[in-house]
Amino acid sequence: MNAITPPHLKWPAGTDHTAVPYSIFNSREVYDLEQKKIHNGPTWNYLSTEAELPEKGSFKSTYIGDTPVVVTRGQDNEIYAWVNRCAHRGAEICRERHGKSEDGAYTCVYHQWAFDAKGDLRGVPFQRGLGGKGGMPKDFAKDQHSLRKVRVVNHLGVIFGTFSDETPDIETYMGEDVAYHFKRILKGPIEVIGHTRQYIAGNWKFYSENTKDPYHASLLHLFHPTFGIYRASLGGGTIVNNDVHSVLWVENSKEDESKLSDVKSDNTRTYQEGTYQLADPSLLAGAKEFDDDTTTVIFSLFPSLVVHQIQNTLAFRQILPKNENEFELVWTFFGYADDTEEMRNFRLKQLNLVGPAGLISMEDGESTELCQKAIVRDGNYTNVLEMGGVGTGTDDHFVTEGAIRSLWKGYRKMMDV
Ligand code: FES
Ligand SMILES: [Fe+2]
Repeated sequence: MNAITPPHLKWPAGTDHTAVPYSIFNSREVYDLEQKKIHNGPTWNYLSTEAELPEKGSFKSTYIGDTPVVVTRGQDNEIYAWVNRCAHRGAEICRERHGKSEDGAYTCVYHQWAFDAKGDLRGVPFQRGLGGKGGMPKDFAKDQHSLRKVRVVNHLGVIFGTFSDETPDIETYMGEDVAYHFKRILKGPIEVIGHTRQYIAGNWKFYSENTKDPYHASLLHLFHPTFGIYRASLGGGTIVNNDVHSVLWVENSKEDESKLSDVKSDNTRTYQEGTYQLADPSLLAGAKEFDDDTTTVIFSLFPSLVVHQIQNTLAFRQILPKNENEFELVWTFFGYADDTEEMRNFRLKQLNLVGPAGLISMEDGESTELCQKAIVRDGNYTNVLEMGGVGTGTDDHFVTEGAIRSLWKGYRKMMDV
């Protein structure tokens, strides 16, 4: 057992990642260790789209894990990021969510130390004192007091950041299939349609599990089977890259008819074909826009990003842990710069499907909270992750928890437990 491993992180012996101790979902010690080893470790974390930083001087405040970070576009047009903590006495420098610095400076409100877009210190009021008195020591060197800088990469118009020099290049980090799907969905310049934000009273890893879980999709989300967006008998499956990243994809055109009667008998609670009708069926009107049969794809780049195409809705979902019992989920909805007006209207209407109150996504926040509520005093118990067997990796069907088992395999490696 590693010397710094908290007692909560003892993994049940011989479980093949099929039994995760609940204590790791509500322990502050585990949370702090995750911030150190995962979010501050060799991982790429989603920060922004480039479209949100359109001009020299543009900036956006966000987080890596729970560390506040500002992403900027400098006067040289390059993208930079730094920790939003003043080098003087630690105050938050940038207090706006996004905007434009007209003079390219970022000035702390407390004593007005001023920094540039790169995070370098440019000005210290009264550095030389006043009337021969006070001021900073003569050998005070501004270049020794830059903000803590974040290594960034702009991959196909999406900005990622890492605190570690050891994080591999972004495509190696993603793995082949996640990189493929990333390229597929970033097929042209994007336009941000808008954001939604929600706080979820649950541990952030319950949501990571949720987005790798095809088993729940036809059972929890009544809307899915009722309106034919998703059934377990459709084509598709889950692909795992580098243990912790995954792709869940659906092909409506490849439904296995022979599985349909089983789906109907197993889904008695949710399969209500013909019972419910949409008052406005144009909600689900849309158009095919990719050169393949994939109608839904949800892929995750651990620890901070989930990307989805569900019908014609496209979004980045950023997972921002706040503490062991709470995370913020920031949705960035997008289309392409060359969208027709008709396509943009499809996207806008279909936004009713996703986001905090989405017809097919509001239950995910709720189920995450249900888990958090129920485990509060039962950290010594474990879950049961045996759907689809005990193995890890890729599956060509939906009745599996293989991608979740893979997540825990990778998590244990990252956390060294
Ligand atoms: S804390 Fe920022 S200038 Fe003093
Ligand atoms: Fe879901």
